[in-house]
Amino acid sequence: MQKNITVIEGDGIGPEVTRQSVKILNAIAAQFNHTFNYTYHLMGAVAIDKTGNPLPDETIESCLNSDAVLFGAIGHPKYDNDPTAKVRPEQGLLKLRKSLQLFANIRPVNTYPALQHLAPLKAEKLEGVDFIIFRELTGGIYFGKKELSEDGTKASDDCVYTTPEIERIAHLAFQYAQKPERRKKLTLVDKANVLETSRLWRKVVQEISKQYPDVAVDYMFVDNASMQIMLNPKQFDIVLTENMFGDIISDEASVLSGSLGLLPSASVGTGTVLFEPIHGSYPQAAGKDIANPLGSILSAAMMLEHFGLSTEAALVREAVKWTLENGFVSKDIEPVNFYFTSTIGDLISDYVKSTDHERIN
Ligand code: IPM
Ligand code: MN
Repeated sequence: MQKNITVIEGDGIGPEVTRQSVKILNAIAAQFNHTFNYTYHLMGAVAIDKTGNPLPDETIESCLNSDAVLFGAIGHPKYDNDPTAKVRPEQGLLKLRKSLQLFANIRPVNTYPALQHLAPLKAEKLEGVDFIIFRELTGGIYFGKKELSEDGTKASDDCVYTTPEIERIAHLAFQYAQKPERRKKLTLVDKANVLETSRLWRKVVQEISKQYPDVAVDYMFVDNASMQIMLNPKQFDIVLTENMFGDIISDEASVLSGSLGLLPSASVGTGTVLFEPIHGSYPQAAGKDIANPLGSILSAAMMLEHFGLSTEAALVREAVKWTLENGFVSKDIEPVNFYFTSTIGDLISDYVKSTDHERIN
């Protein structure tokens, strides 16, 4: 199989974690006779520094012409601490999501027995936690009209959703819920007791649910949902929600797996699919080789799955599990006896390359 991948390393720890994924994709390619061609492009603060634009046209162009995009992270503290900056790194990612019409961000949340001690919940609450957040990604308050009054004392962000925007992600989430490996339950997270947009979500989802009679649906207000994620995370199977609620509850949910650095995601739409860890650019760790590469590596596994390469994806996941079980973990997980980002990448790449897996078992 031959695939063209646009790689956007981005800011902060983006380059170092993404390089581990490329290393592992190369190991997979060598092992299974595939060809992955990479084209590197800029986005985020690095793109602003080099071109003045957080998302240069050639980056969009390359993504549109690729089979998939592998993205690292975005953001820089110099912008976070300057609320008046007009050009901001995050605008790059938001524009890319819009340009590629990546309307659904799929964020699986799993727990690993080897990491249960890191989560603030008791082990019995964590065993068997396995849910997927479907976060709407191209609408809502992120993309509504933004205004700041002349005198700078009044600001607003509109939250807008249309029925078709809700329908397309709802269908995707319901279809996912029907998969043999899922538990056929969908929870819509909204704030329908207050927000008009949430009431539209509820109405549309109620209507669509009739087409999926085998999927049980429940509805939960976002404030309650964020409590339920901590109280009883096992109850969730497919969680469907709008853009900002999805952003917030997915960071919260990452706590269950032991580290934000572990969670991967796929952003799908009408064409090219983008894969990225859910974590941010973690500038304090940038260039130190201490970031957790697993969120990116598991995103690469989702990419393999997307290419139809299930065996390859399963091997990467197995290798990830093996590093966790054997203590080959990064600093976020083991602050003293940690392994470097690049070493973890090497170990996983070696695991993939050792066909019989004898050497490491
Ligand atoms: C994420 C990030 C982004 C978001 C930022 C960097 C714009 O937090 O992918 O979750 O809010 O969507
Ligand atoms: Mn986020």
